[in-house]
Amino acid sequence: MTMSATGGPAEDRSAPSPRGLAGRTAYGTTTTAFYGEAGRPTPNERWVVPEYSNTGRRFDETVRDRARAIIARYPEPRSAVMPLLHLCQSMEGFISADGVTFCAEMLDMSEAEVDGVVTFYTMYKRKPCGEHLVSVCTNTVCAALGGDQIYQTLREHLGVGQEETAGEPGTPGSLTLEHVECLACCDFGPVLTVDYEMFDNQTPQAALELVQALQRGERPTPTRGAPLTDFKDAELQLAGFFEDREDDVDAPSAAPQTLRGAQLAADRGWRAPAMPEQPPAFPDLPDKK
Ligand code: FES
Repeated sequence: MTMSATGGPAEDRSAPSPRGLAGRTAYGTTTTAFYGEAGRPTPNERWVVPEYSNTGRRFDETVRDRARAIIARYPEPRSAVMPLLHLCQSMEGFISADGVTFCAEMLDMSEAEVDGVVTFYTMYKRKPCGEHLVSVCTNTVCAALGGDQIYQTLREHLGVGQEETAGEPGTPGSLTLEHVECLACCDFGPVLTVDYEMFDNQTPQAALELVQALQRGERPTPTRGAPLTDFKDAELQLAGFFEDREDDVDAPSAAPQTLRGAQLAADRGWRAPAMPEQPPAFPDLPDKK
């Protein structure tokens, strides 16, 4: 039986989405649909997990060994919650109810505490992701430079909306689309990332060609940083396991534009004021009432 995250039987929503958007396979049409009658997940549906994630087989001894290695990096086990969640996401492509239980057990935390972290950070996905995660920046600078048009172009091409997946999640060529807040590369806007690798100075046409290449199984070279792998592998790296890719992920991520300010300061001999030997004393604080 497919269970909801709250432990009750999941409602059968196996009918295909009536939206009928081109290019979209509503995930779970053969197991559990994530989409309601409006064609979009409702808050309850977001917690429905596919049956395979309830077997526990994804958290075998190899994963437990990795979890123990992560926990050993920290003085307190609970401090390891974020990389441990990335490890879970590298196994399943999202954070399932089983993933939450696994983290809670390994970290001696309650499931509610782990859930609190999962639901706070947008990098933890609550639905299975595609082979690749495409994140389009639509924050102020990128939006002004065309980010909204890029997102709209990809949305129409893939036939999906925010955090929805075109194709069966995890299968080759499947893509999850999202629009995100500032990716901290405003000087290269509009930007997008694929599995968190940067593609700078995008246009709707360039982004469309990039996505079409991903759907064909190609892995275009990012503008900066490491070569593309896939979403799960990126998650494994975020958990701290690089699988002989140390040199790749050490690739330079700065470009001349990024360093322009530092270069100008160096050319002109500008320096930040030296730090004082002793930090200034804190002012007296009024008593709390
Ligand atoms: S606004 Fe898009 S990277 Fe900053």
